[in-house]
Amino acid sequence: MEYLSNFWLFVVGTISVLLYLAWLIPKRTSRPPGPPNWPIVGSLFYLNKLPHRAMEELAKKYGPILYLRLGYVNHIVISNAEMALEVLKTHDANFASRPSSIIGKYGGYDYFDIVFAPYGDNWRLLRKICVTELLTQARLKSFEPGREEEVARMVENIAKHNQEGKPMKMRHIFHELTSNNICRMLFGRYREKSDCFLGKEFDNLVHCVIELGEIGGKFNISDLIPILKPFDVQGIEKKLKHIQNQAKNSLSIILNMYRNETKIVTNSTVTDFVETLLSYDDGKLDERSIMGVLTDLIGGGTDSSAITMEWALTELIRHPKIMKRAQEELDAVVGRTRPVLMSDLPNLPYLHAIIKETFRLHPPLPLMVPHFNTQDVQILNYKIPANTTTIVNIWAIGRDSKVWRKPLEFDPDRFSDSDIKIGGSTFNLLPFGSGRRRCPGMDLAQHMLQYGLATIFHAFDWFPQPGIKLEDMNVMETFGALCPKDEPLVAIAKPRLSSQIYKQLT
Ligand code: HEM
Repeated sequence: MEYLSNFWLFVVGTISVLLYLAWLIPKRTSRPPGPPNWPIVGSLFYLNKLPHRAMEELAKKYGPILYLRLGYVNHIVISNAEMALEVLKTHDANFASRPSSIIGKYGGYDYFDIVFAPYGDNWRLLRKICVTELLTQARLKSFEPGREEEVARMVENIAKHNQEGKPMKMRHIFHELTSNNICRMLFGRYREKSDCFLGKEFDNLVHCVIELGEIGGKFNISDLIPILKPFDVQGIEKKLKHIQNQAKNSLSIILNMYRNETKIVTNSTVTDFVETLLSYDDGKLDERSIMGVLTDLIGGGTDSSAITMEWALTELIRHPKIMKRAQEELDAVVGRTRPVLMSDLPNLPYLHAIIKETFRLHPPLPLMVPHFNTQDVQILNYKIPANTTTIVNIWAIGRDSKVWRKPLEFDPDRFSDSDIKIGGSTFNLLPFGSGRRRCPGMDLAQHMLQYGLATIFHAFDWFPQPGIKLEDMNVMETFGALCPKDEPLVAIAKPRLSSQIYKQLT
């Protein structure tokens, strides 16, 4: 009898231990913490017009990896460098896809482009074409003369405004610079405004990609709550359809001109990028991919760099001592008897620190582009199921008070003795992302920013528009796919070099 009761005690004890372990295991691999979920809408109420800021607040409460169910869609939000490393390096391949969304459908031409494409062969081929045919160091070097001409054109434009005593809308001036530069790179020549073909169609494309940037980052309720899909409650699908139609029209006109062999670059033997793309026209590339890649490159090449230049100039006008130090560095390296040259750029460490600091406080894509994991994965003790939309909040990472001393201050000196890089090898500053999906335009963007900013700081003194005190200058952002200044910067420039130099430049 005693033997039997010992036996049952043993069985009950073993089962209890096993049940306890089974209870423990799912706890160790549960989903990350997050705010309460409401029926149908999930945690949508916790976001507002500036979701990167709302998510930063949520991370303070729930931690650097948090779970958000938005409508019916599972999201995780990453808000510190350690967690970003897990997603973008340790589990990079698994997280390298993109979720489906209305912006991917219309802005990415049914996901046939690079930015919104799922991880796979088409994405790999398109990215390889861009990286090897347009964005290598050698190709970037070959575009230097064009870049110099465009920066000179910008200086001329600023000097003209100055003579007329007019304050300038700087975003417009920077858009002109960056879009002219990418136009040269893609089509092999400057777009004359009078040129009804390239001028008009390219202008329209730039207009479309800027609109895509404004609308594209908005959370589309119909993406999140499937029952609402047919209703397009915010009207986003209608707007995107319209933009895509306009962009498609312009691209079709340009591509037809190429296909009809009306060469755009009449006096050049160099193959331009569109010709290269069309050389894959033998069925390897879908028409949607050709259009999608051109849209991605015009978008990437225009808006994000222009927005960053506007933020950098805003911060330096607000901080005259930092502007003075930047100008002293330029005077020491370049002098005042010639313009800045591309070869001066490696010798301007303070300027590089200013650009890093601008990216830290004002990343143009604060939530990057969402990633998407194709398989279940465990991060720390958390189980992330396959098909989770993953948002890396680089805005919050750049303001993490555990990493950055006085994080809200604009202080380029924090980079003077640091080995923090912006290329994605260190994870506390990620303006271009990291890993397989890292921005392929990073080197081009850096050349453009360094050369453009060095030239305007060297050639002009800068002031806010009359009536605005430095301390009253607005530094709030607005949110779309990109995050520009809420109120565009209006500024006044005064020449600081002899008039001879401006003639040399133009
Ligand atoms: C200041 C300038 C720029 C910033 C801050 C920036 C930032 C970014 C970021 C954060 C991503 C997403 C990375 C990820 O998902 O992990 C991205 C993707 C991308 N960027 Fe940029 N970018 C800039 C300029 C450019 C330029 C000049 C180009 C090309 C002309 C470009 C082309 C692209 C493309 C094609 C992708 C998609 C990559 C992929 O999905 O594989 N960007 N960029």
